[in-house]
Amino acid sequence: MTNKEIVINYAEYDSLDQLQEQDRLLAEAAVKASANAYTPYSHFNVGAAVRLSDGTVVTGANQENMAYPSGLCAERTAMFHAAAQYPDKAMEAIAVAAEKDGRLCPIPATPCGACRQVMAEYQSRGGRAMEVLMVGAEKIWKFSKVDDILPLIFDSLKQ
Ligand code: THU
Repeated sequence: MTNKEIVINYAEYDSLDQLQEQDRLLAEAAVKASANAYTPYSHFNVGAAVRLSDGTVVTGANQENMAYPSGLCAERTAMFHAAAQYPDKAMEAIAVAAEKDGRLCPIPATPCGACRQVMAEYQSRGGRAMEVLMVGAEKIWKFSKVDDILPLIFDSLKQ
């Protein structure tokens, strides 16, 4: 038996000003998109922004439904929108931000498991790393690839 270890590296920033410009713009787009969330049940407004290989930014916001599972997270709304509109463009980065009571959450909101799995799919489809930015009011976290937030990604069908 061998003990194995998975180590995850990510960058932490204290403010949007510390980000490279294109990441700052993506983060700001995610914050802005949260205003379009439809959240009569959770009142938890999430925005997401995807940057494509040509620089195009596509946004999404969570959309809830009285029949709860029929709603969709912000990240998947953004990614499905991007894939439906620009199927040939790789997604190079995604940013997510959440607001509660009209204020950006201090600690970044982290994507749910289903959204991570969808990120993994589009990262694979795009053939390049997809960066993931989690934007909070006090901290911003940047992961350089989806693998870092979804270790042991399911890709067994490729074997
Ligand atoms: N939500 C997202 O939009 N993204 C996530 O990664 C986690 C949760 C939404 C779903 C629901 O509308 C609300 O946040 C509360 O769970």
